[in-house]
Amino acid sequence: MGKGSGYGKVILFGEHFVVHGVPGIVSAIDSTTDAEVKKTGEGIAVRDERKTAKGYSEEKRLQQLESIDRMLKAMGIDPKTPLSIWIGGTLPGFSGLGASAASSVAIARAIAQELGMNVPDEKINQVAYEAEKAYAGNPSGIDNTAATYGGLMWFQKNMSGGTDFVEKVKTPKQVEIVIGSTGKVANTKAMVAGVAERKRQNPQKYDPLFKRAEEIAIEGRKALEAGDLKKVGALMNENHTLLQEIEVSSRELDLLVDIARKQGAYGAKLTGGGGGGCIFALTPGKELQEKVAKAIEAQGFEVLRTMIGVQKL
Ligand code: MEV
Repeated sequence: MGKGSGYGKVILFGEHFVVHGVPGIVSAIDSTTDAEVKKTGEGIAVRDERKTAKGYSEEKRLQQLESIDRMLKAMGIDPKTPLSIWIGGTLPGFSGLGASAASSVAIARAIAQELGMNVPDEKINQVAYEAEKAYAGNPSGIDNTAATYGGLMWFQKNMSGGTDFVEKVKTPKQVEIVIGSTGKVANTKAMVAGVAERKRQNPQKYDPLFKRAEEIAIEGRKALEAGDLKKVGALMNENHTLLQEIEVSSRELDLLVDIARKQGAYGAKLTGGGGGGCIFALTPGKELQEKVAKAIEAQGFEVLRTMIGVQKL
């Protein structure tokens, strides 16, 4: 049996903007999707045992099959190869946490192991990028990069199709965060396409927002490297405002952000494609983390208590 894992992620700065070449900062979280693969049975069979938001697996099933198909092509594997695939792990199937990319990385690694192929991380990352197209339409590559390598990273898509610019960001220590889930499954493909369309139609409004998103990423990196978490939080808040302006936030996301800030989170913003999915709040220290997590839970939402800056695979 072949086994593999991929990290979940939160985007600290720059979701959606990264699709258009603006730099972003992403961090793996301390939760992974794990896969086991056996070359047996008939065709592709998937048993998905992840904890998911209601309707997540149903909503994503077709995209998942397409993603596996794309993955096999990218790995040069005969699509008729019988593969029995199990998916589980600690990363919940909530929209916004890079669950699709984490599962693609996990499955690609498990397939490679089961078929005795030696596939380096760089190739796994490319394969997962191809698979991501099934979920995100025109992905930037930020999710699969985080899922493959882990850690805290600066990411800039190469808009002419070459290698993306990826650099590790060093921060003095791992920091507690709280992820809050709206419980709503989001369609990343539609969210990405919507932003692109509005940007095309209204450059006067969108160009300055994209410019500010770039400055926020640059200032955010400096603050992270200096360990200035108050500043990181303030920039996260501002980034959330930009995401509201490009119309990817929602009433529930804004509510969760509000609850977290009122409880003393250093900053809070939606993470990932928006339109549903998750927020994350920067909550250094176990005490603050617990306070924010409990307040979100008290309103009936699910949370994940985790850390950023994690690399352990
Ligand atoms: C999704 O986690 C992040 C988006 O920017 C899409 C992408 O970069 O591929 C919305």
